[in-house]
Amino acid sequence: MAGLPPSLSGQDVGSFAYLTIKDRLPQILTKAIDTLHRHKSEFFEKHGEKGMEAEKKAISLLSKLRNESQTDKPIIPFVEKFADTDIWNQYLEYQQSLLNDTDEKPRWFYSPWLFVECYAYRRIHEAVIQSPPIDDFDVFKEAKEQNFFESLESITALCIHLQELMTTIEDLEENQLKNEFFKLLQISLWGNKCDLSLSGGETSSQKTNIINTLEDLKPFILVNDMEHLWSLLSNCKKTREKVSVTRVDIVLDNSGFELVTDLVLADFLLFSNLATEIHFYGKMIPWFVSDTTIHDFNWVIEQVKHCDHKWVSKCGVDWENYVKMGKWVYHDHIFWTGPHEFCAMFHVAPDLYAELQKAHLILFKGDLNYRKLTGDRKWEFTVPFHRALNGFHPAPLCSIRTLKAEIQVGLRPGQGEQLTASEPNWLTTGKYGIFQFDGPL
Ligand code: F6P
Ligand code: MG
Repeated sequence: MAGLPPSLSGQDVGSFAYLTIKDRLPQILTKAIDTLHRHKSEFFEKHGEKGMEAEKKAISLLSKLRNESQTDKPIIPFVEKFADTDIWNQYLEYQQSLLNDTDEKPRWFYSPWLFVECYAYRRIHEAVIQSPPIDDFDVFKEAKEQNFFESLESITALCIHLQELMTTIEDLEENQLKNEFFKLLQISLWGNKCDLSLSGGETSSQKTNIINTLEDLKPFILVNDMEHLWSLLSNCKKTREKVSVTRVDIVLDNSGFELVTDLVLADFLLFSNLATEIHFYGKMIPWFVSDTTIHDFNWVIEQVKHCDHKWVSKCGVDWENYVKMGKWVYHDHIFWTGPHEFCAMFHVAPDLYAELQKAHLILFKGDLNYRKLTGDRKWEFTVPFHRALNGFHPAPLCSIRTLKAEIQVGLRPGQGEQLTASEPNWLTTGKYGIFQFDGPL
């Protein structure tokens, strides 16, 4: 595309993209292979010999994938028929058409990182669906569940906090309500640290009570547009007629602790009347290790509901009711696990774009969503967020993300350079975070 900076890619030796393809991806694949291996007897019990054969097949397909990526082989089309197979293969052809030499093929270290990395997770899914009868096995499920259980103390504290807030909400003054809103937004932001792909699929849970750490973490928020979110939602509340709706859409990221922080925020938005309806978007296939699928969404609500603590369990009961009453709506769309940046959504998934247009505010959780919002390009740090969105403006939106990829826009002049000088890895460790808003003020 003319006028746009080049994409991040594994060609840049030493870059985070390069290290991801070289080290992190093989690590994640090895872990997936190991998980399949450990479930061998379960497959046998369920499916007999057929289950054992399927396990072997899935493992050999994943080993092949690991070898292809490590040796920078050409990227091959998908063979197994699935909802998005044609979309993916067309995209691969498009990548091929961008190469000057017609004999050249898109390759792992050579093609855009966003494409290659999404392709890797789609290939993991292909390996599983090519191996019936274990074709509905989620190789990352165990890690996601472990993250939830290891974060249980912090989840308990957070749910109790929410229930206490619910009982005092009527007595809160405007400013106090705003402070509570900001607290829950920050909890949802730092919840994004608990992503399992950054740690190569190793555990990355929330062990301390996050509420007590918010003040200390404030200096690490590099772009802070929380005030815009408050103005927007409190104005909607003030101007809302009795029957009308304020809809907030949340494009979810990771399951486990992060998902709980998002559900807590969504619950608060309803009982504070800042919103009347919340729409969630999850992934249709296991994705970037810890991303939320419908199974994870229901599983987390169920777990919270069955917690021993009565206020925690109350949260789970309320959440299940919101879903039943249609105050919380969960959406699936294959676009979210595709290779496209979000500026292509209008053409590639017009139905999804139209759905998002119904929101008063869209919250995009996490790093991968940020990469797709900005096209994963080598933008200058000071480029306005609006520009980097490249025409993607379905509704006012905000990225809530901890930084885990070498891309950041909308910074003050010199801010990025200063950080680079003092802390060379500031972009990729998840230590820093942003609330970056785009929309009319
Ligand atoms: O591997 C690429 C990447 O964007 C990382 O930088 C990050 O660790 C991960 O994927 C996804 O992060 P998140 O769960 O926040 O989208
Ligand atoms: Mg994720």
